[in-house]
Amino acid sequence: MNENPPHDCQICPRLAAYRNTNRAAERDWFNAPVPCFGDPQAELLIVGLAPGVTGANRTGRPFTGDWAGDLLYATLAKFGFSEGVYDRTHMIGHIDDGLRLKNCMITNAVRCVPPQNKPVGAEINNCRPFLQARLASLPNLKLVLSLGKISHDSVLRATATKLKDAPFGHGVSYALPDFTLMSSYHCSRYNTNTGRLTTEMFENVFAGVRERLLK
Ligand code: URA
Repeated sequence: MNENPPHDCQICPRLAAYRNTNRAAERDWFNAPVPCFGDPQAELLIVGLAPGVTGANRTGRPFTGDWAGDLLYATLAKFGFSEGVYDRTHMIGHIDDGLRLKNCMITNAVRCVPPQNKPVGAEINNCRPFLQARLASLPNLKLVLSLGKISHDSVLRATATKLKDAPFGHGVSYALPDFTLMSSYHCSRYNTNTGRLTTEMFENVFAGVRERLLK
């Protein structure tokens, strides 16, 4: 199993139809399953929800061009997980901003943009084999950081862990057989605007990640 779906993946009919609509309207956009981005030797895998329509779906790189990405990439830089300068206008196939992740990779539980940012259960399930392949192909993986409950639950299901044994919460952490799962509220515009997640809370999660990786 490949860790990235094919460019014209047809597994989820609703997502394939939405992609066709977006392709017709915005020919310069990526409009395809967004591949993982980062260091193939990473100890840390960050798992988001799904590409935003004008963010990763446009640019082709997870979280790039999204509000959520502004916070995520700033935090990665602050905690030493990137080098170079994140440019939110970076687009795959155009001029590369040169950003590189260090000891970190980013992916999404669902690789295609879903309408209204809401994947349905079947789509999350359909995409899980790619998440499983991603997890399996990181030889140094120690820590998975899930952003939000959909990501958290999908990682648990990917590892055949019962959801009731590891409930989602901001700042929780669970030792799974092959890695530790830590979770945070998603760094979405909605969560930061409502104060559910502050920059300080998000940075505290990364302080915990950093500490664990140093052990
Ligand atoms: N962009 C992504 O790639 N993933 C998210 O979860 C949110 C925005």
